[in-house]
Amino acid sequence: MPAPESPLIIALDYPDLGAALQLADALDPARCRVKVGKELFTRAGPAAVEALHSRGFQVFLDLKFHDIPNTAAGAVEAAADLGVWMVNVHAAGGRRMMEASAERLVKRGLETHLIAVTVLTSMTDDELQETGVADSALSQVERLARLTQESGLDGVVCSAHESARLRELCGAGFLKVTPGIRPPSAEQGDQRRVMTPDAAMAAGSTHLVIGRAVTRAADPMAALADIELALAGSS
Ligand code: C5P
Repeated sequence: MPAPESPLIIALDYPDLGAALQLADALDPARCRVKVGKELFTRAGPAAVEALHSRGFQVFLDLKFHDIPNTAAGAVEAAADLGVWMVNVHAAGGRRMMEASAERLVKRGLETHLIAVTVLTSMTDDELQETGVADSALSQVERLARLTQESGLDGVVCSAHESARLRELCGAGFLKVTPGIRPPSAEQGDQRRVMTPDAAMAAGSTHLVIGRAVTRAADPMAALADIELALAGSS
């Protein structure tokens, strides 16, 4: 499978495989990766991943596992056995859960990237406080990113607002996969900590997850081309 140079990961957030593949068939696996999330995977299962692999795409399986160490590690192993490029857990699951998951991949010699979600990009400081976290989103992201790195994972999911700080804290090689990406013309939707694609890359994001800005655009391919143009102009 070719490894695209592009940092773009298109989120195929569709309720059925047919709709997801319709968009995938318009995309070029040399120009982006794709992300299969909870909605599509719950409806279509591993067949969704297989269909995308057979079209040449590298797949980020975004199931955000959060469970006891043995269960999370088993789920991560199962994802890696599907041959996905990347899989993730919630950093809030803690050190032992993350270590067990990372160790399972090493033990099996599986090369799937394992990253951890820090704080969801849809959450504000106030919403975080309601869950019992008194710190700001930034402090909580820093804490969880350090824990993720110490636990032996390859990187984190964070908002682009935190990428620059995490580049200082964890280094440039530590992956910073950032959803909540919105071109200037796109709607914010339910996301809160958003940033434009070129600003996110300048801030230190290594990969950009783009969902509705492309999938819900009147012309998805034109929306994607605009994002590529913005990135080319800023690199
Ligand atoms: O449509 P939009 O660009 O907001 O989609 C963002 C995608 O990234 C969704 O699939 C969502 O589940 C995912 N995501 C997120 N925030 C995280 C982790 C993943 O928005 N922290």
